Amino acid sequence: MYIRVLGSGAGGGFPQWNCNCDNCRRLRRGEINARPRTQSSIAVSADGEDWVLFNASPDIRFQLEANPPLQPKRGVRDTGIRAIVLIDAQIDHTTGLLILRESNKPLEIYCTEPVYRDLTSGFPVLSMLDHYCKVNHHPLPINGGAFTIDGFEDFRFRSHALKSKAPPYSPHREDPHPGDNIGVIVEQLSTGRKLYYAPGLGEIEPHVFEAMQESDCLLVDGTFWTDDEMAKVGSDKKAREIGHLPQSGPGGMMEVLSRVPASTRKILIHINNTNPILDQDSPQRRQLEKAGIEVAYDTMEIVV
Ligand code: MLT
Ligand code: MN
Ligand code: ZN
Repeated sequence: MYIRVLGSGAGGGFPQWNCNCDNCRRLRRGEINARPRTQSSIAVSADGEDWVLFNASPDIRFQLEANPPLQPKRGVRDTGIRAIVLIDAQIDHTTGLLILRESNKPLEIYCTEPVYRDLTSGFPVLSMLDHYCKVNHHPLPINGGAFTIDGFEDFRFRSHALKSKAPPYSPHREDPHPGDNIGVIVEQLSTGRKLYYAPGLGEIEPHVFEAMQESDCLLVDGTFWTDDEMAKVGSDKKAREIGHLPQSGPGGMMEVLSRVPASTRKILIHINNTNPILDQDSPQRRQLEKAGIEVAYDTMEIVV
């Protein structure tokens, strides 16, 4: 299967418009060995022609221009995007839906019931799109069950609930519902190869670790290096509190990934602009390299 990383950054991207943290400042000044990053999204395809978009980032216009396989070519109005899977209802994963309103067909949206409710209440983007291109909603399992997507007969998808967070605007931000966030396994039936995608992952529950063990490639939460990283920008919010497992420290993502077979490709995605791993010359980045962990970048192409 073919995977393209459209956006490897977390909410805000890198640099973030109002951020003067070490990373953002040095990037603007050209004083850091780092790449800018747009907000969180990937696309997956079996044949390189038709793509499932995972998340619709506010940066989607630029992302599509940077990724020719997803561009129109089969008619005067066309797109490589055949379906859209939403991992959660967060702003960085859903605002791009508004940008897709010119579609000449209804958007085929795959999301869980709690995400659907948030996107028709707190942020009613799906209701708004009914006045433009319209939307067909396909509910997703939250118990690891399988689902299919029309036009992707060689793929079997499975989705499960994750411990993370509903968005700050959600009517139930502090009252988590199973399915506010999901992880997805994409399996290509003809090859048996599997991708596990979980960009917002607060806790490694047994079913999460199983998904990591059975997959050939992991694209998992790389938001923060430490739990208190947001202190750098004057916030007392902890990574775990906002639904992201930090990479370092006991029980952190590095430790978890050290228990996954060495043959599995391990890639961090959804990197926040405060994260020291963005600096390719940092000691933290060196630690990841030693552990065989990659850091996703925009336009990265992955073949699984
Ligand atoms: C998150 O995943 O916590 C987000 O990036 C928050 C946001 O988009 O505002
Ligand atoms: Mn996010
Ligand atoms: Zn910053």
